[in-house]
Amino acid sequence: MIKISPSVLACDFSRLGEEISAMQKAGADMIHLDVMDGHFVPNISFGAPVIKMARGVCDILFDVHLMITEPLRYIGDFADAGAGIITFHIESAGNTEETIRRIRSHGISPGLSLKPKTPVESLLPYLHLLDMILVMTVEPGFGGQDFMPDMLPKLDWLQARREDLGLAFDIQVDGGIDNSTAPLVCARGADNLVAGSSLFGSRDYSSAITGLRAAAGSFR
Ligand code: DX5
Ligand code: ZN
Repeated sequence: MIKISPSVLACDFSRLGEEISAMQKAGADMIHLDVMDGHFVPNISFGAPVIKMARGVCDILFDVHLMITEPLRYIGDFADAGAGIITFHIESAGNTEETIRRIRSHGISPGLSLKPKTPVESLLPYLHLLDMILVMTVEPGFGGQDFMPDMLPKLDWLQARREDLGLAFDIQVDGGIDNSTAPLVCARGADNLVAGSSLFGSRDYSSAITGLRAAAGSFR
């Protein structure tokens, strides 16, 4: 079953709580929250206090994507804000394994992500510790960019390792996901789709999610 994680980066932030609730009602499995510090990526979004406020008005799983330089320093804050999944970047500072274990120690699912230029093999030492791998299919920092098809071989590699190592991590894809790119990534093992502009930019969230789910399943 494909999971769908709408990214609020493309929502109307003046109505954040309502937008999240509307996506939940429309059938989203979780909500993707992109945290950017203006240092790890050239953009600033929002932090733990905003997530905590949103947490107060809805109960869907929060999938927090940290695009920040020092994730370890802030894990406690995001745990306290109500994250259910915390994904950070292998390119960020600090000890990767320690950061994964810190996330787990709060009872939160750890995810690890990589930028387009980072080789997927660099994830190998950590695969057995993770609940999710997030493959970026755009340069992180902004919504609304074009999907990078040359990232598809990373999905093949992850799917093969998941199988031959007997692991069960989810493979999430983030960046330029819509009804035309979803079948490409799902055919290569992706089972969790982040979509910002293609979902929040639609008039009817419910039919947008149904359409994305149908497209994701259409490769079979
Ligand atoms: C980009 C973010 C994405 C972004 C995706 O750095 O990680 O989650 O919101 O937006 P779309 O779906 O518009 O490419
Ligand atoms: Zn993201």
